[in-house]
Amino acid sequence: MSYCVRIENTELEFIVNPGESILEAALREGMAFPFNCRSGTCGTCAGRVIEGEVAYPEGRTSALPAAEALGRALFCQARPVTDLVVEFPRPPPEPFIEPRLLPCRVARIEDLCQDVRRLYLRMPGEERLEFFAGQYIDILLPGGRRRSFSLAKPPHDNELIELHIRRVPGGEFTSYVFDEIEPDALLRFEGPLGKFYLREKSQNPILMMGGGTGFAPLKGMIEHAFHMGIERPIHLYWGARTRSDLYLDALPQRWMEEHQNFQYTPVLSEPEADPDWSGETGFVHEVLLGDYPDLYDFDIYMSGPPPMIEAALDEFPEHDLREENLHYDSFEYAADSQPDNEEA
Ligand SMILES: Cc1cc2nc3c(=O)[nH]c(=O)nc-3n(C[C@H](O)[C@H](O)[C@H](O)COP(=O)(O)OP(=O)(O)OC[C@H]3O[C@@H](n4cnc5c(N)ncnc54)[C@H](O)[C@@H]3O)c2cc1C
Ligand code: FES
Repeated sequence: MSYCVRIENTELEFIVNPGESILEAALREGMAFPFNCRSGTCGTCAGRVIEGEVAYPEGRTSALPAAEALGRALFCQARPVTDLVVEFPRPPPEPFIEPRLLPCRVARIEDLCQDVRRLYLRMPGEERLEFFAGQYIDILLPGGRRRSFSLAKPPHDNELIELHIRRVPGGEFTSYVFDEIEPDALLRFEGPLGKFYLREKSQNPILMMGGGTGFAPLKGMIEHAFHMGIERPIHLYWGARTRSDLYLDALPQRWMEEHQNFQYTPVLSEPEADPDWSGETGFVHEVLLGDYPDLYDFDIYMSGPPPMIEAALDEFPEHDLREENLHYDSFEYAADSQPDNEEA
């Protein structure tokens, strides 16, 4: 059955045919809906459904929980089940880099801690990936399946791609990375993807919060900010279970010595394992709020495990957060490995 979608506060309407997503129908009608991955992982197409209902017949993709936490639907995945009134998603404020499908080879592998590896990837010949600091790529697996990983380097330093990969127990791709991968192994990826990137033109001071390998895109952004001579204050909070999980702790410590505008607060959630730890402990978002109870003036960037992102999305609005200044990547599992989809 076809349904009619009206854009709120306008006369614009379009018909969504059976089997079409709202985004597909809008693009067919020539509407400039913002989008990027079209596979439900980047969150660019998220917008509000003001009236009516949508369903996700293809399953719950990785960007959906975070979109729903903000009361939004993912228009590249959602199908109407009634007529709808929707709010136009905000267009991306910065230029868009067209994602490309590219092959690459593993140039170097480093163990950063017990369950995090750093992979350096090289593209063929003189090929370089153009991206905004903080974006991610999807590694392509057989059968069109994908695994997302953030770009840990700044855009100017793009001879090699750098990824920080945490082992997921029983995870298909990360087990391959820890148990089998060899230098020179061939991979394919699509990128750059996502709208998690440093807004360079803003004048606001910056708060960053990473959990585990959520440090990776923040590293790319911070190195980019230093390279661009951005002098706004940047305060990074890095949350991890134990001290060894702060797998590159010496790097932000060094940034603090080298850059007056940079501050770093590591936070351990399981400090019992490190009896001589005298730093912050507990939930990283609570430590940040303890230091900055009023978030109104700040640009906030956060990346890492979904529970950390969800806790912050729950609590930050009570601290005067301005939604338009909040940017995040929630490290969800790929849709094909979600428990709901196991039979697929
Ligand atoms: C935008 C983005 C950026 C990311 N960046 C990084 C990064 O830089 N570094 C990094 O380490 N990771 C990152 N991730 C997470 C990373 O993509 C996943 O950890 C990875 O896809 C796991 O792949 P896998 O094939 O090893 O695991 P999978 O084979 O996909 O499955 C993992 C295992 O967990 C189970 N599982 C699936 N879903 C759930 C669930 N919701 N809850 C609990 N268990 C579940 C599965 O059944 C399976 O046993 C990012 C994710 C996103 C969306
Ligand atoms: S375009 Fe919809 S989530 Fe990426």
